[in-house]
Amino acid sequence: MAKAKTIYSCTECGAQSPKWQGQCPQCGAWNTLVESVAAPAPTRFANVAGARSTVRALASVDARETPRTPTGVEEFDRVLGGGLVSGGVILLGGDPGIGKSTLLLQASALLGAAHPVLYVTGEESVEQVAMRAQRLGLVNAPVSMLAEVQLEAIVAAIDAQQPAFVVIDSIQTLYTEALTSAPGSVAQVRECAAQLTRVAKQRGVGILFVGHVTKEGAIAGPRVLEHIVDTVLYFEGDTHSSFRLVRAIKNRFGAANELGVFAMTERGLRGVNNPSALFLSHHSEAVAGSAIVATLEGSRPLLVEVQALVDPVAGASPRRLAVGIDAQRLALLLAVLHRHGGVEVAGYDVFVNAVGGVRIDEPAADLAVLMAVASSIKNKPLHDKTLVFGEVGLAGEIRPVQRGVDRIREAAKLGFKTAVVPVANKPKQSIDGITLRTVERVDDAMAMLRE
Ligand code: TYD
Ligand code: MG
Repeated sequence: MAKAKTIYSCTECGAQSPKWQGQCPQCGAWNTLVESVAAPAPTRFANVAGARSTVRALASVDARETPRTPTGVEEFDRVLGGGLVSGGVILLGGDPGIGKSTLLLQASALLGAAHPVLYVTGEESVEQVAMRAQRLGLVNAPVSMLAEVQLEAIVAAIDAQQPAFVVIDSIQTLYTEALTSAPGSVAQVRECAAQLTRVAKQRGVGILFVGHVTKEGAIAGPRVLEHIVDTVLYFEGDTHSSFRLVRAIKNRFGAANELGVFAMTERGLRGVNNPSALFLSHHSEAVAGSAIVATLEGSRPLLVEVQALVDPVAGASPRRLAVGIDAQRLALLLAVLHRHGGVEVAGYDVFVNAVGGVRIDEPAADLAVLMAVASSIKNKPLHDKTLVFGEVGLAGEIRPVQRGVDRIREAAKLGFKTAVVPVANKPKQSIDGITLRTVERVDDAMAMLRE
Protein backbone atom coordinates (compact mmCIF):
# COMPACT_ATOMS: atom_id res chain seq x y z
CA MET A 1 0.00 0.00 0.00
CA ALA A 2 1.35 3.41 -0.93
CA LYS A 3 1.97 5.55 2.13
CA ALA A 4 -0.65 8.27 2.48
CA LYS A 5 0.67 11.79 2.18
CA THR A 6 0.88 13.63 5.48
CA ILE A 7 0.73 17.33 6.12
CA TYR A 8 1.06 19.48 9.24
CA SER A 9 -1.79 21.74 10.17
CA CYS A 10 -2.00 24.40 12.85
CA THR A 11 -4.52 23.69 15.62
CA GLU A 12 -5.01 27.43 16.13
CA CYS A 13 -5.60 28.80 12.63
CA GLY A 14 -5.77 25.70 10.44
CA ALA A 15 -2.88 26.77 8.19
CA GLN A 16 -1.14 23.83 6.51
CA SER A 17 2.51 23.24 6.01
CA PRO A 18 4.35 20.32 4.38
CA LYS A 19 6.97 20.18 7.16
CA TRP A 20 6.85 20.38 10.92
CA GLN A 21 7.91 23.73 12.34
CA GLY A 22 8.01 25.03 15.87
CA GLN A 23 6.05 28.13 14.97
CA CYS A 24 3.07 28.38 12.67
CA PRO A 25 4.12 30.43 9.63
CA GLN A 26 0.58 31.81 9.34
CA CYS A 27 -0.50 32.91 12.81
CA GLY A 28 2.80 32.76 14.65
CA ALA A 29 1.55 30.42 17.43
CA TRP A 30 4.15 28.07 18.91
CA ASN A 31 3.93 24.29 19.00
CA THR A 32 0.58 24.08 17.29
CA LEU A 33 1.50 22.15 14.14
CA VAL A 34 0.06 18.64 14.21
CA GLU A 35 0.55 15.88 11.69
CA SER A 36 -2.51 14.74 9.75
CA VAL A 37 -3.36 12.75 6.67
CA ALA A 38 -3.85 14.87 3.56
CA ALA A 39 -7.43 14.04 2.54
CA PRO A 40 -7.72 12.98 -1.09
CA ALA A 41 -9.83 15.53 -2.92
CA PRO A 42 -12.91 13.48 -3.95
CA THR A 43 -13.97 12.45 -0.42
CA ARG A 44 -14.32 16.08 0.52
CA PHE A 45 -17.34 16.40 -1.72
CA ALA A 46 -18.99 13.12 -0.85
CA ASN A 47 -21.16 12.40 2.17
CA VAL A 48 -20.71 9.45 4.50
CA ALA A 49 -22.46 7.06 2.14
CA GLY A 50 -20.01 8.04 -0.60
CA ALA A 51 -22.67 9.70 -2.78
CA ARG A 52 -23.18 13.35 -3.59
CA SER A 53 -25.56 15.06 -1.19
CA THR A 54 -28.84 16.49 -2.43
CA VAL A 55 -30.85 19.40 -1.08
CA ARG A 56 -34.10 18.30 0.57
CA ALA A 57 -36.98 19.94 2.39
CA LEU A 58 -36.69 19.36 6.12
CA ALA A 59 -40.28 18.14 6.27
CA SER A 60 -39.56 15.41 3.72
CA VAL A 61 -36.89 13.82 5.87
CA ASP A 62 -38.10 10.71 7.62
CA ALA A 63 -37.29 11.43 11.26
CA ARG A 64 -37.74 8.14 13.02
CA GLU A 65 -36.63 7.73 16.60
CA THR A 66 -33.23 6.09 16.45
CA PRO A 67 -33.67 2.56 17.72
CA ARG A 68 -31.68 1.95 20.87
CA THR A 69 -30.05 -1.13 22.20
CA PRO A 70 -30.02 -1.11 26.01
CA THR A 71 -26.75 -2.47 27.38
CA GLY A 72 -28.53 -3.93 30.38
CA VAL A 73 -26.42 -1.87 32.79
CA GLU A 74 -29.29 0.32 33.90
CA GLU A 75 -27.41 3.38 35.13
CA PHE A 76 -25.24 3.33 31.98
CA ASP A 77 -28.32 3.20 29.78
CA ARG A 78 -29.75 6.16 31.66
CA VAL A 79 -26.74 8.35 30.78
CA LEU A 80 -26.79 7.13 27.21
CA GLY A 81 -30.41 8.21 26.89
CA GLY A 82 -31.81 4.67 26.69
CA GLY A 83 -29.01 2.64 25.17
CA LEU A 84 -26.52 2.38 22.35
CA VAL A 85 -27.31 3.44 18.81
CA SER A 86 -26.12 1.65 15.68
CA GLY A 87 -23.49 3.79 14.03
CA GLY A 88 -23.22 5.92 17.16
CA VAL A 89 -19.77 6.71 18.51
CA ILE A 90 -19.27 7.22 22.23
CA LEU A 91 -16.26 8.49 24.12
CA LEU A 92 -15.90 7.43 27.76
CA GLY A 93 -13.28 9.52 29.50
CA GLY A 94 -11.90 9.42 33.02
CA ASP A 95 -8.88 9.15 35.28
CA PRO A 96 -6.85 5.96 35.25
CA GLY A 97 -8.22 3.31 37.61
CA ILE A 98 -11.66 4.84 37.94
CA GLY A 99 -13.47 1.90 36.34
CA LYS A 100 -13.77 2.52 32.60
CA SER A 101 -12.60 -0.94 31.58
CA THR A 102 -14.73 -2.54 34.28
CA LEU A 103 -17.89 -0.78 33.16
CA LEU A 104 -17.35 -1.54 29.49
CA LEU A 105 -16.55 -5.18 30.16
CA GLN A 106 -19.74 -5.52 32.20
CA ALA A 107 -21.76 -3.79 29.48
CA SER A 108 -20.12 -5.92 26.74
CA ALA A 109 -20.90 -9.12 28.58
CA LEU A 110 -24.59 -8.24 28.87
CA LEU A 111 -24.78 -6.92 25.31
CA GLY A 112 -22.96 -9.99 23.98
CA ALA A 113 -25.87 -12.23 24.88
CA ALA A 114 -27.97 -10.73 22.09
CA HIS A 115 -25.51 -8.94 19.77
CA PRO A 116 -22.01 -9.73 18.54
CA VAL A 117 -19.55 -7.58 20.51
CA LEU A 118 -15.84 -7.09 19.81
CA TYR A 119 -13.69 -5.88 22.71
CA VAL A 120 -10.38 -4.46 21.47
CA THR A 121 -7.81 -4.13 24.21
CA GLY A 122 -4.73 -2.07 23.50
CA GLU A 123 -3.62 -1.56 27.07
CA GLU A 124 -3.96 -4.95 28.63
CA SER A 125 -3.36 -8.45 27.37
CA VAL A 126 -6.29 -10.74 26.68
CA GLU A 127 -5.29 -12.67 29.82
CA GLN A 128 -5.53 -9.55 31.97
CA VAL A 129 -9.01 -8.87 30.65
CA ALA A 130 -9.92 -12.49 31.30
CA MET A 131 -8.74 -12.10 34.89
CA ARG A 132 -10.98 -9.09 35.31
CA ALA A 133 -13.86 -11.03 33.78
CA GLN A 134 -13.25 -13.80 36.31
CA ARG A 135 -13.38 -11.30 39.14
CA LEU A 136 -16.64 -9.96 37.74
CA GLY A 137 -18.10 -13.44 37.41
CA LEU A 138 -18.27 -13.07 33.64
CA VAL A 139 -15.85 -15.78 32.45
CA ASN A 140 -18.33 -17.26 30.02
CA ALA A 141 -19.41 -13.92 28.61
CA PRO A 142 -20.08 -14.17 24.85
CA VAL A 143 -17.61 -11.44 23.87
CA SER A 144 -14.91 -11.60 21.15
CA MET A 145 -11.55 -10.31 22.33
CA LEU A 146 -8.77 -8.76 20.27
CA ALA A 147 -5.46 -7.47 21.63
CA GLU A 148 -4.37 -5.04 18.92
CA VAL A 149 -3.16 -1.46 18.60
CA GLN A 150 -2.82 -1.05 14.87
CA LEU A 151 -5.81 0.70 13.35
CA GLU A 152 -5.70 -1.11 10.01
CA ALA A 153 -5.74 -4.50 11.74
CA ILE A 154 -8.68 -3.45 13.90
CA VAL A 155 -10.67 -2.27 10.89
CA ALA A 156 -9.90 -5.57 9.16
CA ALA A 157 -11.14 -7.45 12.23
CA ILE A 158 -14.35 -5.42 12.25
CA ASP A 159 -14.85 -6.30 8.59
CA ALA A 160 -14.24 -9.98 9.23
CA GLN A 161 -16.24 -10.35 12.45
CA GLN A 162 -19.09 -7.97 11.62
CA PRO A 163 -19.79 -7.04 15.25
CA ALA A 164 -22.77 -4.86 16.15
CA PHE A 165 -20.76 -3.06 18.84
CA VAL A 166 -17.04 -2.48 19.31
CA VAL A 167 -15.20 -1.33 22.43
CA ILE A 168 -11.79 0.31 21.91
CA ASP A 169 -9.82 0.33 25.17
CA SER A 170 -8.18 2.81 24.76
CA ILE A 171 -8.07 5.21 21.83
CA GLN A 172 -4.70 6.55 23.00
CA THR A 173 -2.98 3.23 22.42
CA LEU A 174 -3.96 3.02 18.73
CA TYR A 175 -1.79 4.08 15.83
CA THR A 176 -2.24 4.18 12.10
CA GLU A 177 0.47 3.34 9.56
CA ALA A 178 -0.47 6.49 7.66
CA LEU A 179 1.19 8.76 10.21
CA THR A 180 4.69 8.79 11.61
CA SER A 181 3.76 10.38 14.96
CA ALA A 182 3.88 8.26 18.12
CA PRO A 183 0.74 6.53 19.45
CA GLY A 184 -1.06 8.78 21.90
CA SER A 185 -0.06 11.96 20.06
CA VAL A 186 -2.80 14.36 19.05
CA ALA A 187 -2.33 13.45 15.39
CA GLN A 188 -2.65 9.70 15.97
CA VAL A 189 -5.59 9.96 18.36
CA ARG A 190 -7.48 12.25 16.05
CA GLU A 191 -6.80 10.26 12.91
CA CYS A 192 -7.62 6.88 14.48
CA ALA A 193 -10.83 8.22 15.98
CA ALA A 194 -11.84 9.82 12.70
CA GLN A 195 -11.17 6.61 10.74
CA LEU A 196 -13.12 4.48 13.21
CA THR A 197 -15.98 6.97 13.23
CA ARG A 198 -16.15 6.63 9.46
CA VAL A 199 -16.26 2.84 9.83
CA ALA A 200 -19.05 3.18 12.43
CA LYS A 201 -21.19 5.38 10.18
CA GLN A 202 -20.62 3.34 7.03
CA ARG A 203 -21.23 -0.10 8.51
CA GLY A 204 -23.72 0.86 11.21
CA VAL A 205 -21.49 -0.38 14.03
CA GLY A 206 -21.74 1.25 17.45
CA ILE A 207 -18.29 2.10 18.79
CA LEU A 208 -17.23 2.98 22.34
CA PHE A 209 -13.86 4.61 22.83
CA VAL A 210 -12.13 4.71 26.17
CA GLY A 211 -10.18 7.96 26.50
CA HIS A 212 -7.67 8.94 29.15
CA VAL A 213 -7.91 12.29 30.75
CA THR A 214 -4.81 14.43 30.93
CA LYS A 215 -3.78 16.38 34.02
CA GLU A 216 -5.70 19.41 32.79
CA GLY A 217 -8.85 17.31 32.79
CA ALA A 218 -9.28 17.23 29.03
CA ILE A 219 -9.28 14.07 26.97
CA ALA A 220 -6.02 14.00 24.97
CA GLY A 221 -5.43 15.48 22.58
CA PRO A 222 -6.86 18.85 23.41
CA ARG A 223 -10.55 17.96 23.20
CA VAL A 224 -10.22 17.01 19.53
CA LEU A 225 -12.26 13.88 20.06
CA GLU A 226 -15.26 15.63 21.55
CA HIS A 227 -16.15 17.09 18.16
CA ILE A 228 -15.76 13.84 16.29
CA VAL A 229 -17.94 11.59 18.44
CA ASP A 230 -21.71 11.63 19.02
CA THR A 231 -21.66 11.22 22.77
CA VAL A 232 -19.11 12.23 25.38
CA LEU A 233 -19.28 10.63 28.82
CA TYR A 234 -16.99 11.34 31.74
CA PHE A 235 -16.33 9.09 34.66
CA GLU A 236 -16.01 11.07 37.88
CA GLY A 237 -15.53 10.31 41.51
CA ASP A 238 -13.04 10.12 44.23
CA THR A 239 -10.91 6.97 43.87
CA HIS A 240 -10.87 6.81 47.68
CA SER A 241 -14.62 6.49 47.94
CA SER A 242 -16.52 3.73 46.22
CA PHE A 243 -18.96 5.97 44.40
CA ARG A 244 -18.56 6.70 40.73
CA LEU A 245 -20.55 9.04 38.55
CA VAL A 246 -20.85 8.81 34.79
CA ARG A 247 -21.89 12.11 33.32
CA ALA A 248 -23.02 12.89 29.78
CA ILE A 249 -21.31 16.07 28.57
CA LYS A 250 -22.63 15.88 25.05
CA ASN A 251 -25.20 13.54 23.56
CA ARG A 252 -26.53 13.77 20.03
CA PHE A 253 -29.04 11.03 20.83
CA GLY A 254 -30.36 12.14 24.20
CA ALA A 255 -30.19 14.63 27.02
CA ALA A 256 -26.77 15.90 28.01
CA ASN A 257 -26.09 16.39 31.70
CA GLU A 258 -27.64 13.06 32.59
CA LEU A 259 -25.96 11.29 35.47
CA GLY A 260 -25.44 7.60 36.22
CA VAL A 261 -24.43 6.61 39.74
CA PHE A 262 -22.43 3.49 40.54
CA ALA A 263 -20.73 1.92 43.51
CA MET A 264 -17.46 0.06 42.90
CA THR A 265 -17.70 -3.24 44.73
CA GLU A 266 -15.59 -6.39 44.98
CA ARG A 267 -17.45 -7.71 41.97
CA GLY A 268 -17.48 -4.69 39.70
CA LEU A 269 -19.72 -1.69 39.35
CA ARG A 270 -23.19 -1.84 40.76
CA GLY A 271 -25.82 0.73 39.79
CA VAL A 272 -27.26 2.85 42.57
CA ASN A 273 -30.81 3.65 41.62
CA ASN A 274 -31.69 5.83 44.57
CA PRO A 275 -28.60 7.96 44.98
CA SER A 276 -30.02 11.10 46.54
CA ALA A 277 -28.60 10.62 50.04
CA LEU A 278 -25.16 9.29 49.06
CA PHE A 279 -23.32 12.55 49.32
CA LEU A 280 -24.24 13.51 52.85
CA SER A 281 -21.96 13.06 55.85
CA HIS A 282 -24.72 12.20 58.36
CA HIS A 283 -23.52 14.26 61.31
CA SER A 284 -25.27 13.30 64.51
CA GLU A 285 -25.92 16.99 65.22
CA ALA A 286 -25.66 20.19 63.20
CA VAL A 287 -22.07 21.38 62.67
CA ALA A 288 -20.75 24.76 61.60
CA GLY A 289 -19.53 25.07 58.02
CA SER A 290 -21.93 22.61 56.46
CA ALA A 291 -24.89 23.23 54.16
CA ILE A 292 -26.87 20.74 52.12
CA VAL A 293 -27.94 21.53 48.59
CA ALA A 294 -30.22 19.65 46.21
CA THR A 295 -28.57 19.68 42.81
CA LEU A 296 -30.25 18.62 39.63
CA GLU A 297 -27.42 17.20 37.64
CA GLY A 298 -29.37 15.07 35.24
CA SER A 299 -33.02 14.28 35.75
CA ARG A 300 -32.86 13.24 39.42
CA PRO A 301 -32.31 15.55 42.37
CA LEU A 302 -29.21 14.69 44.37
CA LEU A 303 -28.63 15.94 47.90
CA VAL A 304 -25.02 16.94 48.39
CA GLU A 305 -23.33 18.35 51.46
CA VAL A 306 -21.12 21.39 50.88
CA GLN A 307 -18.50 21.86 53.59
CA ALA A 308 -16.48 24.98 54.24
CA LEU A 309 -13.60 25.67 56.56
CA VAL A 310 -12.59 29.28 57.10
CA ASP A 311 -9.48 29.79 59.17
CA PRO A 312 -7.16 32.77 59.83
CA VAL A 313 -4.49 33.05 57.14
CA ALA A 314 -1.64 30.63 57.71
CA GLY A 315 0.78 31.73 54.97
CA ALA A 316 1.72 34.97 53.30
CA SER A 317 -1.49 35.30 51.32
CA PRO A 318 -4.96 33.85 51.84
CA ARG A 319 -5.63 30.50 50.20
CA ARG A 320 -8.85 29.62 48.42
CA LEU A 321 -9.29 25.96 47.67
CA ALA A 322 -12.39 24.44 46.11
CA VAL A 323 -12.93 20.72 45.61
CA GLY A 324 -15.92 19.73 43.49
CA ILE A 325 -16.90 23.36 43.05
CA ASP A 326 -15.56 25.83 40.53
CA ALA A 327 -12.76 27.92 42.09
CA GLN A 328 -13.67 31.02 40.08
CA ARG A 329 -17.23 30.75 41.27
CA LEU A 330 -16.00 30.53 44.87
CA ALA A 331 -13.96 33.72 44.43
CA LEU A 332 -17.03 35.47 43.08
CA LEU A 333 -19.22 34.26 45.95
CA LEU A 334 -16.67 35.43 48.53
CA ALA A 335 -16.75 38.89 46.99
CA VAL A 336 -20.56 38.93 47.13
CA LEU A 337 -20.46 37.71 50.73
CA HIS A 338 -18.18 40.59 51.65
CA ARG A 339 -20.00 43.32 49.80
CA HIS A 340 -23.60 42.28 50.37
CA GLY A 341 -23.43 40.05 53.42
CA GLY A 342 -20.96 42.13 55.41
CA VAL A 343 -18.74 39.11 56.08
CA GLU A 344 -15.03 39.87 55.75
CA VAL A 345 -12.93 36.94 54.45
CA ALA A 346 -9.78 38.80 53.41
CA GLY A 347 -7.76 37.65 56.42
CA TYR A 348 -8.83 34.02 56.12
CA ASP A 349 -8.00 30.87 54.23
CA VAL A 350 -11.14 29.40 52.69
CA PHE A 351 -11.52 25.71 51.86
CA VAL A 352 -14.70 24.36 50.28
CA ASN A 353 -15.50 20.75 49.49
CA ALA A 354 -18.46 18.93 47.96
CA VAL A 355 -18.68 15.67 49.94
CA GLY A 356 -18.15 12.31 48.26
CA GLY A 357 -16.10 13.40 45.25
CA VAL A 358 -19.12 14.73 43.40
CA ARG A 359 -18.71 17.78 41.14
CA ILE A 360 -21.39 20.46 41.24
CA ASP A 361 -21.49 22.74 38.23
CA GLU A 362 -24.91 24.19 38.90
CA PRO A 363 -25.30 27.77 40.15
CA ALA A 364 -28.08 26.42 42.38
CA ALA A 365 -25.33 25.51 44.85
CA ASP A 366 -24.24 29.16 45.24
CA LEU A 367 -26.35 29.86 48.30
CA ALA A 368 -25.21 26.66 50.01
CA VAL A 369 -21.55 27.57 49.45
CA LEU A 370 -22.18 31.06 50.76
CA MET A 371 -23.99 29.85 53.86
CA ALA A 372 -21.42 27.14 54.58
CA VAL A 373 -18.62 29.73 54.44
CA ALA A 374 -20.53 32.22 56.62
CA SER A 375 -21.48 29.46 59.04
CA SER A 376 -17.84 28.41 59.40
CA ILE A 377 -16.54 31.93 59.93
CA LYS A 378 -19.19 32.68 62.56
CA ASN A 379 -18.86 29.15 63.98
CA LYS A 380 -22.63 28.92 63.96
CA PRO A 381 -24.29 25.84 62.45
CA LEU A 382 -27.33 26.04 60.22
CA HIS A 383 -30.39 24.38 61.69
CA ASP A 384 -30.29 20.64 61.59
CA LYS A 385 -31.96 18.95 58.58
CA THR A 386 -31.95 22.10 56.45
CA LEU A 387 -31.84 22.23 52.69
CA VAL A 388 -30.40 25.31 50.95
CA PHE A 389 -30.44 26.24 47.28
CA GLY A 390 -30.45 29.34 45.08
CA GLU A 391 -28.30 31.18 42.60
CA VAL A 392 -26.48 34.23 43.93
CA GLY A 393 -26.19 37.33 41.75
CA LEU A 394 -23.45 39.96 41.86
CA ALA A 395 -25.91 42.53 43.16
CA GLY A 396 -26.56 40.36 46.20
CA GLU A 397 -29.90 39.04 44.98
CA ILE A 398 -30.88 35.39 45.29
CA ARG A 399 -32.24 34.15 42.00
CA PRO A 400 -34.61 31.22 41.49
CA VAL A 401 -33.42 27.93 40.04
CA GLN A 402 -35.27 25.47 37.83
CA ARG A 403 -37.47 22.72 39.25
CA GLY A 404 -37.39 24.02 42.79
CA VAL A 405 -40.36 21.90 43.88
CA ASP A 406 -38.64 18.66 42.85
CA ARG A 407 -35.65 19.60 44.96
CA ILE A 408 -37.76 20.42 48.02
CA ARG A 409 -39.78 17.20 47.63
CA GLU A 410 -36.63 15.10 47.51
CA ALA A 411 -35.40 16.67 50.75
CA ALA A 412 -38.80 16.18 52.40
CA LYS A 413 -38.65 12.51 51.42
CA LEU A 414 -35.35 12.18 53.26
CA GLY A 415 -36.69 13.74 56.42
CA PHE A 416 -35.50 17.32 56.03
CA LYS A 417 -37.44 19.79 58.14
CA THR A 418 -36.51 23.20 56.70
CA ALA A 419 -35.74 24.50 53.22
CA VAL A 420 -34.09 27.86 52.54
CA VAL A 421 -35.14 28.78 49.00
CA PRO A 422 -35.31 31.83 46.70
CA VAL A 423 -38.63 33.71 46.95
CA ALA A 424 -39.61 32.80 43.39
CA ASN A 425 -39.12 29.10 44.12
CA LYS A 426 -41.74 29.04 46.89
CA PRO A 427 -44.21 26.32 45.90
CA LYS A 428 -47.85 27.29 45.57
CA GLN A 429 -48.92 24.43 47.81
CA SER A 430 -47.12 23.53 50.99
CA ILE A 431 -45.06 20.36 51.02
CA ASP A 432 -45.69 17.96 53.88
CA GLY A 433 -43.16 17.91 56.68
CA ILE A 434 -41.02 20.78 55.48
CA THR A 435 -41.02 24.43 56.57
CA LEU A 436 -40.06 26.93 53.89
CA ARG A 437 -37.90 29.97 54.55
CA THR A 438 -37.68 32.27 51.56
CA VAL A 439 -34.73 34.57 50.97
CA GLU A 440 -34.56 37.47 48.57
CA ARG A 441 -31.12 38.85 49.24
CA VAL A 442 -27.83 37.68 50.73
CA ASP A 443 -28.69 39.77 53.84
CA ASP A 444 -31.75 37.61 54.50
CA ALA A 445 -29.63 34.47 54.45
CA MET A 446 -27.08 36.04 56.79
CA ALA A 447 -29.87 37.09 59.15
CA MET A 448 -30.82 33.44 59.50
CA LEU A 449 -27.34 32.71 60.84
CA ARG A 450 -27.81 35.33 63.55
CA GLU A 451 -31.01 33.80 64.90
P1 TYD B 1 -10.48 -0.26 35.72
O1 TYD B 1 -11.79 -0.59 35.11
O2 TYD B 1 -9.31 -1.11 35.33
O3 TYD B 1 -10.10 1.26 35.52
P2 TYD B 1 -9.75 2.06 34.18
O4 TYD B 1 -10.01 1.19 33.01
O5 TYD B 1 -10.65 3.27 34.24
O6 TYD B 1 -8.32 2.47 34.30
O7 TYD B 1 -10.72 -0.32 37.30
C1 TYD B 1 -9.67 -0.35 38.13
C2 TYD B 1 -10.01 -0.25 39.59
O8 TYD B 1 -11.25 -0.83 39.97
C3 TYD B 1 -8.95 -1.00 40.30
O9 TYD B 1 -8.33 -0.11 41.19
C4 TYD B 1 -9.63 -2.12 40.99
C5 TYD B 1 -11.06 -1.72 41.05
N1 TYD B 1 -11.98 -2.85 40.91
C6 TYD B 1 -12.81 -3.19 41.97
O10 TYD B 1 -12.79 -2.59 43.03
N2 TYD B 1 -13.69 -4.23 41.81
C7 TYD B 1 -13.75 -4.96 40.65
O11 TYD B 1 -14.57 -5.89 40.56
C8 TYD B 1 -12.88 -4.59 39.58
C9 TYD B 1 -12.89 -5.36 38.28
C10 TYD B 1 -12.02 -3.54 39.73
MG1 MG C 1 -8.59 0.41 31.68
